[in-house]
Amino acid sequence: MENTKILSYRFDRIKPDSVEDYLAAGGYAGLKKAITMNPEDIIEEIKTAQLFGRGGAAYPTGIKWEQAYAIPLEKGLKYMVCNADEGEPGTFKDRDIMAKDPLMLIEGMTIGAFIFGAKEGFIYCRGEYPAIQRTLRSAIESAKKAGFLGENILGTGWNFDIQVVSGAGAYVCGENTALVESIEGKTGRPRRKPPYIKNAGLNMMPTVLNNVETYACIPWIVREGGERFLSIGTEYSGGTKLMCLSGNVVRRGVYEVPFGTTLRELVEDLGGGIAEGRKLKFVHLGGSSGSCFPESLLDTKICYHDLKKNSLSLGSGAVLVVDDRQCVVDYLKAVMEFFVEESCGKCTPCREGNQRILEILEKLSEGRGTTEDLKRVKSLSQTMKNTSFCGLGQSAPVPVTTLLKHFADEFEAHVQGKCPCGKCSMQRVRG
Ligand SMILES: Cc1cc2nc3c(=O)[nH]c(=O)nc-3n(C[C@H](O)[C@H](O)[C@H](O)COP(=O)(O)O)c2cc1C
Ligand code: SF4
Repeated sequence: MENTKILSYRFDRIKPDSVEDYLAAGGYAGLKKAITMNPEDIIEEIKTAQLFGRGGAAYPTGIKWEQAYAIPLEKGLKYMVCNADEGEPGTFKDRDIMAKDPLMLIEGMTIGAFIFGAKEGFIYCRGEYPAIQRTLRSAIESAKKAGFLGENILGTGWNFDIQVVSGAGAYVCGENTALVESIEGKTGRPRRKPPYIKNAGLNMMPTVLNNVETYACIPWIVREGGERFLSIGTEYSGGTKLMCLSGNVVRRGVYEVPFGTTLRELVEDLGGGIAEGRKLKFVHLGGSSGSCFPESLLDTKICYHDLKKNSLSLGSGAVLVVDDRQCVVDYLKAVMEFFVEESCGKCTPCREGNQRILEILEKLSEGRGTTEDLKRVKSLSQTMKNTSFCGLGQSAPVPVTTLLKHFADEFEAHVQGKCPCGKCSMQRVRG
């Protein structure tokens, strides 16, 4: 498999907060070029690159930036915000960028600030990453001392500064409107949309908000051009993706792969296959709110278009591998416990729905579940998808519905009081 490194190229090769090391390894070439270009031309390159947001929703970044650029400066200050909350279970790639090459993120945000005329930026960083927050602050200081951030950047007379804000461990604060509420010092709960972040985000001012990995792609695109970025991936998904491989696989970790790599190549070639000689049962893709699918879909390419054709989505890039020892009901109980804990409680479908689904799963795992219960789970899931206030509640039932689709027999067996895995909580309850 081709070893293409756009994002991880400098990992472990430079001192993360050293501008000298960063410059020596090709850093800041993007910003230096950007200040000689028209903002419209930079946005055009990003559109050509087919860069989709890496935070989960996969919104095209070029379109987002074009829409934000169209908002006149008279509407007020524009803020650059980076979503570094990384709360999605099984996701640990933004951590690598911030710990190993934070100046790449800072450069990406600075190029954005130049386009939008923004003066202030914020990196909202997961509270569980205190050492990374220190690295970020140190990198920001180094960039300022070297003239790449702060006042009169590269002698252009333009000022832009970045602050690091710590999250406090709430998954919902990764949702973009809850995130800006949290930066403002309020309880992190989602806002009604519209207005959208681009029009009324932080302090109700126009705001550009992107994920760490999305910003990190920008310097390379500006330096090398959108065509080149696109040529590395597939026709519909430019560049590379940092994939987080975890679970029952031999070599877990973060892998940078070009779009077009298959999930099988990731799991078997890079990850070394299923650990302890077991068989694959399913893969949980994109984080806890992503789809679960069996081996028959493992040859799907990592490409937004191909995944969509198979009703899958890449989400944050988490690939959790689950082997044949796992009971699907037990697995889902753990997932739904997470959503019960993390639901912010603002709306009824999510606050109640997650809890009710968990209760039914508990019944099933204790051998008390009925066929009616399975129908109720499907109907609750549909209601949550259609009526929850934010993405958390809308997508929380996805692992439940996809496992019900692919492992219907195993759920039926639970209704009959039998669990094929032979080791889950049903056996413990029954002795
Ligand atoms: C419950 C929830 C949690 C989220 N958590 C994150 C997160 O930790 N990091 C992230 O970048 N995006 C997260 N998102 C997606 C953001 O709302 C937003 O779409 C993204 O940060 C936009 O950046 P992008 O276009 O670069 O992907 C989350 C969304 C929801 C609904
Ligand atoms: S869907 Fe869940 S997390 Fe989102 S607002 Fe409703 S209760 Fe809160």
